[in-house]
Amino acid sequence: MIEFQQVTKKYGNNTALDRLDLQIKTGEIFGFLGHNGAGKSTTIKSLVSVIEPTSGKIIVDGKELSANRLEIKKRIGYVPDTPDLFLQLSAGEYWDLIAAAYELPTDKKKERLEELAGLFDMLSHQEEAIGSFSHGMRQKAVLIGALLPDPDIWVLDEPMTGLDPQAAYDLKEMMKRHAARGNTVIFSTHVLDTAQQLCDELAILKKGELIYNGNTDDLLAQSPGESLEAIYLKMAGRQSDGNTLARLEGEAHE
Ligand SMILES: Nc1ncnc2c1ncn2[C@@H]1O[C@H](COP(=O)(O)OP(=O)(O)OP(=O)(O)O)[C@@H](O)[C@H]1O
Ligand SMILES: [Mg+2]
Repeated sequence: MIEFQQVTKKYGNNTALDRLDLQIKTGEIFGFLGHNGAGKSTTIKSLVSVIEPTSGKIIVDGKELSANRLEIKKRIGYVPDTPDLFLQLSAGEYWDLIAAAYELPTDKKKERLEELAGLFDMLSHQEEAIGSFSHGMRQKAVLIGALLPDPDIWVLDEPMTGLDPQAAYDLKEMMKRHAARGNTVIFSTHVLDTAQQLCDELAILKKGELIYNGNTDDLLAQSPGESLEAIYLKMAGRQSDGNTLARLEGEAHE
């Protein structure tokens, strides 16, 4: 179980996250939704120790994150919101670096790489620089690196962005399997169909505030016959969107 207790993150006067209270159960797929700038990546980066909250506590299986960072970090596989990292390294060198940091035995590394890089069609690109990769290939390289040490907690910030349909499908199946084995999968997405398909529980953020947290099925049951997209837009979207769109259309025809 992962708990956020009154977690606040401020950047100067901007409150990116406002007293977030949240519980994420082990064995679940948990999704973060919200418009651009809502605070999804801020929440995720706080959990993976990339940033430190201004106040509040994050507790992982009863242990406070700030007092147990190294131990908890080793349990987490993190895919950041941008895959543009270590561009000078080859994919193989990047994976070696991660394997060394996690003290992964050579045979285990080989086995995991064959499985993951094989699945994502990246084995033949091991010698190539990450900087020469397309966006989707970089995303795959980062994903393979994050999952290489076989962490029990997956924290994936918009992981499907740029992936081809096959890779996106494979990743979704992997997420389901990982959670079904009693592990935790946390991710953010703008693709509401994906959220509807995958998430046991959802958190919807709006301007740093949690506006919904609960079971995906319960949320859908509140508005029978409506898609998650329709429900989400009612909760997080603009009130007067029709007017704005009509005005823009009018201007375009002038
Ligand atoms: N390094 C930073 N310095 C200053 N402000 C930041 C920084 N990172 C994020 N913010 C601010 O924090 C708020 C939340 O940003 P965050 O990246 O968490 O949003 P998000 O929900 O992940 O959005 P997106 O869907 O665009 O990825 C925004 O107002 C953003 O401007
Ligand atoms: Mg983000």
